[in-house]
Amino acid sequence: MNAIDIQSITKRYGDTLAVDRLTLTVPEGGLFALLGVNGAGKSTLIHMLCGLTKPTSGDALLLGKSVAREAAAVHALVGVSPQETAVAPNLTALENLELMAGAYGLRDAKRRADEIIAAFRLGEVEKKPARTLSGGWQRRLSIAMALVSDPKILFLDEPTLGLDVIARRELWAHIRRVKEKATVILTTHYLEEAESLADRVGVMAHGRLVAVGAPAELIEMSGAASFEDAFIALAGEGVDLS
Ligand SMILES: Nc1ncnc2c1ncn2[C@@H]1O[C@H](COP(=O)(O)OP(=O)(O)O)[C@@H](O)[C@H]1O
Ligand SMILES: [Mg+2]
Repeated sequence: MNAIDIQSITKRYGDTLAVDRLTLTVPEGGLFALLGVNGAGKSTLIHMLCGLTKPTSGDALLLGKSVAREAAAVHALVGVSPQETAVAPNLTALENLELMAGAYGLRDAKRRADEIIAAFRLGEVEKKPARTLSGGWQRRLSIAMALVSDPKILFLDEPTLGLDVIARRELWAHIRRVKEKATVILTTHYLEEAESLADRVGVMAHGRLVAVGAPAELIEMSGAASFEDAFIALAGEGVDLS
């Protein structure tokens, strides 16, 4: 079974067509990177896939469950670390994890939070209020929270935005471990991140998917010299770069 099977999904906000009849399948396992300039529709697509917003039309199956008709079943399958991190600022790292475990109705929320603290090496910050943590630690906590329910499919929306190069590389190591066990969908503006982590990449422009393939395939397909040039050729269609 595919992890994700998107069937002509569309989201309209008033006159804005944020996602336009997008069709895509993502096989189970590994990491799929979603690329595109600001406003391309990446976050809107992720919101629809994890049940945060309803499609205007079309549907997507996540491990066979419909986002349009089986929202509760989809919720149980997915974890999400949103673009705007959703950590509660006044709670400690540990309390944030316990809250998330409680929200998923896990019987032993405290034990699950402790397991995640150990797995994500969050011990040194577990008692600190989230608002006092650096950007890198907050992102790590946000991803850890998305994994509390042991999701089969994990969505990471710009997980390394604004992080320094050391914090970014640390998160890459965590993400590489996660993609051994779950299907990961990640958006990023850092092309070297997509090239390094992704098995396959999809490029969005104006709410549509304009290319899909392994990074090397996209380079070949566009006749470009590098992944960055390939991205510009595919995503920057209509933009005058001269
Ligand atoms: N809640 C919303 N209400 C109205 N317009 C929105 C909303 N969310 C996104 N949009 C619009 O939809 C388009 C796609 O946005 P978004 O999905 O955030 O793109 P990306 O994540 O690729 O930057 C943009 O034109 C954006 O302004
Ligand atoms: Mg976005």
